[in-house]
Amino acid sequence: MDKLIISGGRPLEGRVEVSGAKNSALPLIAACLLTRDTVTLENLPAVRDIRTLLGLLQVLGAEADTDFSSPARRASICADRLKSVVAPYDLVKTMRASVLVLGPLLAREGKARVSMPGGCAIGTRPINLHLKGFEKLGARVSSDHGYVDVAAPRLQGAEIYFDMVTVTGTENLMMAATLAEGQTVLRNAAQEPEITDLAHLLNAMGARIQGAGTPVITIQGVERLGGARHRIIPDRIEAGTFLMAGAITRGDVVIGRCVPAHLSAFIQKLSEAGVPVDQLDETTVRVRPGSRLQACDMITQPYPGFATDMQAQYMSLMTQADGVAVLTENIFENRFMHVGELLRMGADIKVDGRQAIVRGKTPLAGANVLASDLRASACLILAALVADGETCIDRIYHLDRGYERIEEKLQALGATISRKA
Ligand code: EPZ
Repeated sequence: MDKLIISGGRPLEGRVEVSGAKNSALPLIAACLLTRDTVTLENLPAVRDIRTLLGLLQVLGAEADTDFSSPARRASICADRLKSVVAPYDLVKTMRASVLVLGPLLAREGKARVSMPGGCAIGTRPINLHLKGFEKLGARVSSDHGYVDVAAPRLQGAEIYFDMVTVTGTENLMMAATLAEGQTVLRNAAQEPEITDLAHLLNAMGARIQGAGTPVITIQGVERLGGARHRIIPDRIEAGTFLMAGAITRGDVVIGRCVPAHLSAFIQKLSEAGVPVDQLDETTVRVRPGSRLQACDMITQPYPGFATDMQAQYMSLMTQADGVAVLTENIFENRFMHVGELLRMGADIKVDGRQAIVRGKTPLAGANVLASDLRASACLILAALVADGETCIDRIYHLDRGYERIEEKLQALGATISRKA
């Protein structure tokens, strides 16, 4: 099992380029099931979750021709002849985003059977809102032996209101509604950039979607969808992670091939904390040292609020800030697993329900630590970059799910980091 070995103390300096967004690539790959024609996706991130979902599509009968070596990072996917509508447990258990095949399979094949995704480190992660939406579209939903079955001869457009903002729930229902009869309106829809990116692909395939990126999305059903070519948006969470890495090491880091507008909440919060972030052009931002790092409260919210996927990284930063920062995690019920490991490095953090109270500035000491989930892994890397001495992070298979070659990117910025098998 791979480990990362990091020696802290050096400010990061230089330029890093952001990879394609994992959380956009996943629904985009699932959307390829909606057509018999070939869909070509570019700027795919070479991370494990992408390979896992491409593997699931092949189990379902789709063909995927991928080229991760060329700069284009291309995958041409053709779901012309599907041989199954079942997403098996052994695949779904490794990646809950496999539930994203439910909507496309239901719309195209009239049925789907997907292993219920278990919970994960950050919460129980139910999919009740997905299933309630499918029922609204006329599907029959049942479950047995850990699987959920959805079936409908032809989906009927409907008004769907989400009790909670759900990113993959919005994506699943938007995909299903593209082939439903009549109009579907999604209310209290997620507004993440990944939703808009998916709508761009679906419309290029012939769908008729309006309002993506707002709380109300309207989909006019069509008879069929065709092929398309689409470039995946940059990963805003990777970009945000590098912003925090530059800030915590008091470095000077230029982040290229990003979308600054997707980073507004992070840039605003860093500015409040005394860390200047400049936009250099429409795809580049630069973080550089400020006079001092000031503790700032933070509350995670659905987009355009501060993303929950950046909460752990921000917590590492706040251990180095002067004062007390109260971090409120509104999205997931158990997303403070990284606190225990930060405490072992010398942080002063108290968890009280949905809030973590971080007292800074506390010097951190290198230690042997365990990653518990994808973003907690990133948080521990940031802490290790400023810790005194060497840190060994174990179980970094979590990290490899969503960050492409992060140790190479950090080495190029001057970090002392290496991977050990
Ligand atoms: C997506 O997960 C992301 N994953 C997550 O990123 C991200 O943290 C999350 O959105 C929130 O932004 C992908 O896009 C593949 P939700 P998702 O449905 O869609 C509750 C990462 O690190 N809920 O928006 O599963 C749920 O329990 C990952 O890249 C229900 O109760 O999240 C949570 O409390 C981690 N019932 C809240 O809503 C449902 O049917 C938001 O969840 C659906 C969700």
